[in-house]
This record gives sequence, C-alpha cells and structure tokens, in this order.
Amino acid sequence: MSDTPVPARPELFTWEFAADPYPAYAWLREHAPVHRTTLPSGVEAWLVTRYADARQALADSRLSKNPAHHSEQAHRTGRVGIPGERQADLMTHLLNIDPPDHTRLRRLVSKAFTPRRVAEFEPRVQQLTDRLIDSFAGRGEADLIHEFAFPLPIYAICDLLGVPAEDQDDFRDWAGMMIRHHGGQRGGVGRAVKKMRAYLLELIHRKRADLGDDLISGLIRASDHGEHLTENEAAAMAFILLFAGFETTVNLIGNGLYALLRNPGQRELLQAALGRGDGALLETGIEELLRYDGPVELATWRFATRPLSIGGVDIPVGDPVLVVLAAADRDPARFADENTLDLARKDNPHLGFGHGIHYCIGAPLARLEGRSAIGTLLTRLPDLHLAADPSELRWRGGLIMRGLRELPVGFTPAS
Ligand code: HEM
Repeated sequence: MSDTPVPARPELFTWEFAADPYPAYAWLREHAPVHRTTLPSGVEAWLVTRYADARQALADSRLSKNPAHHSEQAHRTGRVGIPGERQADLMTHLLNIDPPDHTRLRRLVSKAFTPRRVAEFEPRVQQLTDRLIDSFAGRGEADLIHEFAFPLPIYAICDLLGVPAEDQDDFRDWAGMMIRHHGGQRGGVGRAVKKMRAYLLELIHRKRADLGDDLISGLIRASDHGEHLTENEAAAMAFILLFAGFETTVNLIGNGLYALLRNPGQRELLQAALGRGDGALLETGIEELLRYDGPVELATWRFATRPLSIGGVDIPVGDPVLVVLAAADRDPARFADENTLDLARKDNPHLGFGHGIHYCIGAPLARLEGRSAIGTLLTRLPDLHLAADPSELRWRGGLIMRGLRELPVGFTPAS
C-alpha cells in the first residue's frame, strides 16, 4: 500500500466548481467513485462518477425515477424535480415514472416523435438558424447565448409541436424564467409553468377538434392497442419535450461553440472540412462536444427501491443516486486522452444522452439542431472569436445542467 496521503476532496458546487468541475470529478473518480454528499439544497445523495458504474446505474431497474421512493420525501418540499412542476399534473412525465407506465407512455410518444418526423424538419431548423444569424451578422458582435443558442431550440420545439408563430414569444418568456430559475435565480417559475400548462391544455383541446401534421396532433392520434394519451398525459408529454429539449440544446450549442473557440486547431479542422462540403467531422464532432463538455452534467434523479451495490458500495433503500455524466465521459478507463477535444474521435460511446430505458428520446432533434447551429455559424462567420476573457464568463450554477450564462463574441460583419 502507498503511504502517499490522499489529497483533500476539492469543494463541490461552488462557483469555481461550476466554471471547471473536471478536476473535482477526476478526484472523485480516483478516490471516491461512489460518494455520498450533501447537495446545495441540503438533500443527501450519492454521486457516481466512473463510466462503468454510471452505465450500470443508468440501466439498473432497482433505481426508480419516481420521487415517491425518496426516503426523505424531499420532493414534498419541492427540492427534487423540475421547478414548479408539482403544482400541476405535469409530474407524470417520462423522467418521473418507471415501467410499466413508462413503457406505455414512451411507446406512444415514440409513434409520434419519429426519426422521420425529425429528418423532415431539417429545412425548417436551417431556416430558423439562418434567420437568427441574420439578426446579428451585420453587427460584428453578439452574445451567442441570448441571441442564438437560447432562441433556436425554443422556436424549433414550438414549431415541431405546432405552437402557432404568434404565441411562440410567450414560450420564449416562460422558458427564460425557467432557465433563470435553474441558474439559481428564483421568481416567476411557478407562474411560468402554470401558464405553460394552461396554454398547452388549451392548445391540445383545440387541436383535437382540428388535427394537423404537427407533433401535438401526432401525440393525440398515437394509439397503442387501442389506448390513447389522455389530454393531461399529452400536456405532460408536450411539457417534458419542451423542458427536456430546451435548456439541454441551448447548452449543446453554447458549450460546443465555447469549446471550439478555445481549441483553435480543432475548430480550423472543422471549418476546413465544412468548406470542402464534408459533413463527417461535424457529425463525429457533435458527439465529441457532448462527451467533452455535455449539456447534462448529472443525469436526473434516481432512488434505490431495493438494496443494491454500485462499484462495491452499498446503497440503502430510499437513497437518491445522481449519475455524473460529465465525470463518466472523462473517465480515462474508457476514453483515451480524456481531457482532449478530438472531433474525429471514433470510439465514443458517451453518456451525454443517458443510457437504458430513459435514453434521450430527443437525441435525433438535438443532433440536428447542433449540426445546423454550429456548422452554419462557423461557415457564415469564419473569424468568430471570444470577446471576453474565459475567466470572466459566468456559468449557470444549476445542479443537473451545465451551461454558460453568456458567450460574447466578435467577428467581421457579414450580410
Ligand atoms: C432524456 C440529454 C435534447 C427529450 C434525456 C436524458 C439525457 C438527455 C441525459 C436521460 C436522463 C436520465 O436518464 O436521467 C439530452 C441532451 C440534449 C437533449 C444532452 C441536447 C443536446 C432533447 C430534446 C428533446 C429531449 C431536443 C425533445 C424535444 C427528452 C425526453 C427524455 C430525455 C422526453 C426522457 C426520456 C425517458 O425518460 O424515457 N435527455 N437531451 N431531449 N430527453 Fe433529452
């Protein structure tokens, strides 16, 4: 045995940690890969940081997604789950339920939210991307979070769901309140969720009478062995698609562009490939950006329903388990040169979209938006550069998501 003392555990969940959590995750992987800690909310939870343990935990049916299994019942005090959701029946969504309910709802939504529907949506995403870039291209400077990464996913998912254009700015406002709440700023989120719920129920009601080609109509139409979604289930589904598909994609675009701006060699390779009309590096590149600095830092809550052991550590029944995707995806036991951004990385089974039955249902849409946003921006504004010192950039301090509050850039004005 070595006599070398174990260095002290780095602080978790501070502002420095938010700016760069990776050294702390390296410490956890090495010295305490399954680690019980107190979260900023006061809830005690296990953090799982090694890749092999993370994959196992994500697929373990003894870990429930239903907050009713939490021994502290912390969800009752609103400390677990999506902000504001408890006031409504939006709670019964995919990320909060287990089989057989999960299997039934997931099968129904999969019938409406198909890869084909997403592929057909590509020209619309491209149009939205170009329209947003047009709005700041002539100016020579922009904040890529507020003017680009934030509006693109909200307009895209609203369009896909079938929210009329004239109502989409309301969604932009509600989403803004929710993202600020996640960043630690309170106020207005309960109201935003309530308004969104009322709006979605009303929209579903209207669409039922006049079905179209949109995803909400698809959700209403979808049936499985004669079973349909109820109006409340359809509203909860539309809500989770918006909620799960929004801030995540903002962060894919924001973190992804930031990583490229800080790795000029990789960014030049990508721009050269795009200039040749070769999209292969953009495809592997999006996967690498998801691995290197992914939008979902910690997978959503899981609770032990039966005794289990992860990485040799016994987890008592009722304890919450948080799988740290950002740590697992930098595990040197799985990824060579784990801290290097390599857009051409081939062997890249990252956990950025999760794993097992809750694997991200929106992955094809997220990839499409990521390719369109990053590929188009680097092509249209080729000399894009950071307009702030990285140490000045602020990260949102939420628990589950990882993303920048702002990303100021400069470039030669273009038409
Ligand atoms: C689930 C990541 C975009 C809808 C998940 C999970 C992850 C994830 C990690 C699993 C969570 C867990 O097991 O605890 C991401 C990332 C995205 C993204 C990184 C963007 C880059 C989207 C989009 C949509 C979406 C665009 C829909 C429009 C969902 C839904 C679930 C989910 C509904 C729950 C699936 C289930 O429980 O069966 N996502 N997501 N996501 N995602 Fe995504």
